[in-house]
This record gives sequence, structure tokens and C-alpha cells, in this order.
Amino acid sequence: MTATTPATQRHDGHSAQEYDPQALWQKDKDHFIHPFTDFSVFKEQGCDLITDSDGIYVQDAHGNRFIDGIAGLWCVNVGHGRREIGEAMAEQATRMAYFSTFNNLSNVPATLLADKLAELAPAHLNHVFYSCGGSAANDATIRLVHYYFNRLGKPAKKRILSRNNAYHGTTYLAATLTGIASNNWEFDTLDHLVTHLSEANCYRRPEGMSETEYCDHLVGEFEATIAEIGADNIAAFIAEPIMGAGGVLVAPKGYHQRMQAVCRANDILYIADEVVTGFGRLGHFFASEAVFDTQPDIINCAKGLSSGYAPLGATLISDELYEVLSTPQGPGGVLSTGFTYSGHPVSCAAALKNIEIIEREGICENVREVGPYLEERLRSLSHHATVGDVRGSHFMMCLENVADKETKALLPVEARVGDRVAFEAQKRGLIIRPVGHLNIVSPPLIWTRDVVDEVVAILDASLSATTESLRADGFL
Ligand SMILES: Cc1ncc(COP(=O)(O)O)c(C=O)c1O
Repeated sequence: MTATTPATQRHDGHSAQEYDPQALWQKDKDHFIHPFTDFSVFKEQGCDLITDSDGIYVQDAHGNRFIDGIAGLWCVNVGHGRREIGEAMAEQATRMAYFSTFNNLSNVPATLLADKLAELAPAHLNHVFYSCGGSAANDATIRLVHYYFNRLGKPAKKRILSRNNAYHGTTYLAATLTGIASNNWEFDTLDHLVTHLSEANCYRRPEGMSETEYCDHLVGEFEATIAEIGADNIAAFIAEPIMGAGGVLVAPKGYHQRMQAVCRANDILYIADEVVTGFGRLGHFFASEAVFDTQPDIINCAKGLSSGYAPLGATLISDELYEVLSTPQGPGGVLSTGFTYSGHPVSCAAALKNIEIIEREGICENVREVGPYLEERLRSLSHHATVGDVRGSHFMMCLENVADKETKALLPVEARVGDRVAFEAQKRGLIIRPVGHLNIVSPPLIWTRDVVDEVVAILDASLSATTESLRADGFL
């Protein structure tokens, strides 16, 4: 590697910072404990440094440019390098970067954003509790839900029903809600608080079951679990409208509505984790009501809320819950929960500008227009020997790789098929996300049809190369 990369021109005319990629690579390898990283690989190979970005593209320290097929990590919804978001943040940071929101203090961006979120959310969700990301939003929510039932004189209502393969984050409680078994290998979880139901996986539903029967089966399992645990012991059900990291699993038609009806009948709160589906990914600010016709008691969001320009999470709470949460426990009683950075002014300024851009540029409309095209074009890749399923909705898509399309048998883990496809795509200028045997495509919401065509051509070539390499290595 060269000692210093040549200065490259950015889209905005500024020259890129100069980097010494080798020195940075070494420092990173020596000191950065990366999230979700296989350290047996990392200790040998280190990381790729992503240094620049522009629209749908990112660039590494060597000047290689890639189409971003994962929106950073399901979050850079309005695309990269939005100068006006940077300017809004800089303006707020220099005017008043931070002050407490505890004890009856507030700031302008947090106030305006709460008002805007109440406008965008389903009608009964008018109250916002801020956190710093998705895990913290889910964690804080469960504490609030427990507090809510304590205040109602129902202290036994503690158990949360989640689902296998759900992803809700990695704080202690969010990790317990998460149902992806490998995520919690050798980690402890707070098992007395959470019970996992089956995920809704249409591709791998029991042989011979129609989608309608499968839906009945899942709802039946929910009812049987409630009967077993007792509704008096259950506080809430939490679900992603479409399961994301667990494999972009789209539930059978009517599933969420029916699960919500069961919740209502049993005095169980329905929490929608819209950390990924919120802010346009499915063509609407929130998917719960607009796409799935549900009215959750709580919606959690993060990621696309600020398009990743600053860390931010928000819990949107119904009027009914707010009435209880906002009633003091006694004289001088306070709702004693929150973070130093709840309603951080710079993050909220980023989110306000982000929402302004989504509305002004018709980004939800773009997703509704280009999304079905992306689905259709990705489905055209099903002819590849290893592509067992192409699924998802709009800008939230996934390819499931298999060894045998008939039996749906998986390739051995050592084949690292998801990594292979992602590697081949990266060689061709596209970053997609490998998750085990899956490849996730969750792009910035500004992809056009032309970009979709370019991406599908890259994936087509990458899948052919993967099949060849799997054959060469004796896995097929
Ligand atoms: C549905 C869902 N909930 C929660 C989280 C956790 O969010 P964060 O990583 O910001 O803590 C994620 C992250 O991917 C997510 O996909």
C-alpha cells in the first residue's frame, strides 16, 4: 500500500482529506473493538476504512468508490453528503450544542421534532421520549411499560413476548428481546422477562401449509402462550413490522392486525419496533398503520429518523399511556428515567432537516415508485443455482442462499456463502450486507430505476462468480 493516498476530488469541489491508509488500518486493528465482528478474521485482515461519501456512493481510503446497498446500516435514508443537514447541525452546535432536558428544561430542536413526530405518527401517538438509538429506545420502552402497569396496580404484568429471529438491539434488555440465537451465544440474557414466539417465516413455513393456515397457526401459538403464561403476567408484545436483521421476513397477510387484536383482547400492549421500517423504507414515514393497518400503543424509531447523521432514537407513546406515565406517584413524584442526551439539540436538528428533505424531495413517493421495481428486478435473480428466495418489500430486501432449491437445504457454514456474494459484489463496486447465508439489500431511499438496473447487473455477475467459486471449493 502507498504511504498516502492521492487527494481525490469530492462532488462538492472540496479535496478529500489525505489519509495514510496503512497507518490507519494498523491503529484500527490495534485498538478498535468493532461491533458484530469475527475477530479471527479481523485480527488477520483488519477493516476496510470508509472515508468519503456522496449521495448513493461511499469511498474507501484507497479511493475505490462503491454503490451503498445498505444505507450505511439501514439508516442513511436520504443518502450521503447532505450539506444542509451538516449545516443545520453546525448551526445548532455553535449556537447551543447541549443543555439538559431534565427538570422542566427544553431546547428548540427537541421541541419542534416532538411536535413533528406527533404530526407524522398515527393519530393517537402524540408523545415522544427521546433516546440515543434503537437499542436504548427499546430498553427504555420496556422500563416505561413496566412502570405503566405498576402505576395501574398490575405489577405482575411484566413478561414481554417477542419472536425468534427478532432483532431489537444489544443493551441487556434489548438483547434479551432479540431472538437471533447466535447474537446471544455465550452472552447472558434476562430470560425471566421475555418469551419468544415463532417468527413469521413464509419461505420456511411447515410443508403443505397455505399462507392463511400459517397465519392461523402463528396467531394460535400466540393465544396458547398467553393461556400458558397468563395475560395477567404479560405486559407487551413487540414486533418489527418486517423483521430486518433476522432475515427480512414478511409476515403472512393480516398477521399484524390479528396479533394486535389478540393483544387488545388480553390487555397486552402492542409495541412496533420501526427502527428500520420507519422514515420511508417501506414508502411511508411509519409502516404500522399505512402499510399494515395496525395502531400500536408504542412505536420505536431511530436510524432513518436522522438518516444516521447523528445518533437518535424516539419512542412514540399513545395519549392513553401518557396519561398514566405523567401522573406523579405522589407529591414531588417524577418520572425518573431518561438520558443525558435525551432530546440532544444537534441530533434533533439533524432529524428535523432530514424530515424536511424527505418531504420536500418526495422520498417516500420515490420508494413507492422504485420499490416495486427493485423487488421485481431482484426476483429476476432467482434463476441462480443458489438463490432460494428473494423477499422483502420496497427498499428492504434480502436474498436467501441455499444449497438445494427443492429441499431448501443450506450450504455448510464454512462455505460462508453470504460473505462470498458480498465479496464478489464489492469487487464490482457494490456494498451489500452478508448475514450468515443471507444477503441484505437496504439502500438509501434515493435509488432510481437506473441505479436498480446497475445493481442487479452487478448482483447477477456476483452470483454467477459465487456459484463458480462454491463449485470450485466443492460446496456445490
Ligand atoms: C429493528 C431494530 N431495532 C433496534 C435496533 C437497534 O438499534 P441500535 O443499533 O441503534 O441500537 C436495530 C438495529 O439494527 C433494529 O434493526
